[in-house]
Amino acid sequence: MSPLSTTTFLHYNHRILRRRGLLLLLLPLLLLFSNYLVAGKPNLIQQTCKASSISDPNINYKLCVNALQAAPASLCANLSRLGLISLRLVRDNVVDTRCYIKRLMMTTKHKVDDSALKDCKELYTDSIPDLRDATRDYKANRFRDANIKVSSVIDASTTCEDGFSDEGVASPLTKRNNVTFQLSAMALSIMKMIT
Ligand SMILES: *[C@@H]1O[C@H](CO)[C@@H](O)[C@H](O)[C@H]1NC(C)=O
Ligand SMILES: *[C@@H]1O[C@H](CO)[C@@H](O)[C@H](O)[C@H]1NC(C)=O
Repeated sequence: MSPLSTTTFLHYNHRILRRRGLLLLLLPLLLLFSNYLVAGKPNLIQQTCKASSISDPNINYKLCVNALQAAPASLCANLSRLGLISLRLVRDNVVDTRCYIKRLMMTTKHKVDDSALKDCKELYTDSIPDLRDATRDYKANRFRDANIKVSSVIDASTTCEDGFSDEGVASPLTKRNNVTFQLSAMALSIMKMIT
């Protein structure tokens, strides 16, 4: 564009530009306002995790949000769906922890009869059918039954952890037991919200 045609263009569009100028001035304010609106209305995952972490101090808000957000098809899920997703998270976690324990048992460090580790393997093995049943109960709206089964998974994680302190050895599963506990508590918390 030559300088002349630019001037002409500016001349003809003077009013529009002035209006645009006003808009540009207001834009930061608008952005600030919309930002405020978004921050003031968190999505369901954040709302759910906030309520869960308040009602159960064992649930870490950040872990809850990260776990649910990373789960497939969670972004637009309703509460009922989030409950199902949290049950799946527990199940996947339990399956992985069981595999992790089996690997630990193969290493020389844990080869000596580590009865605590053996107990943990059994506890986590038993948790898998518990979670399958809990999911079935959940889908059939039998929340009380589902609650009992998920609670037994929580018990499994604490019993596993206690086994090491009873033996007076450091637990190689502290972190995993902790996450199993928290994910299970999330599922329980969501069920409580639904019922
Ligand atoms: C929640 O979402 C699922 C699909 O993900 C749908 O089948 C169900 O009807 C929804 N429940 C409610 C209460 O809207
Ligand atoms: C899990 O770990 C966090 C951080 O280390 C701790 O604050 C919390 O009490 C633990 N929860 C359980 C159930 O062990």
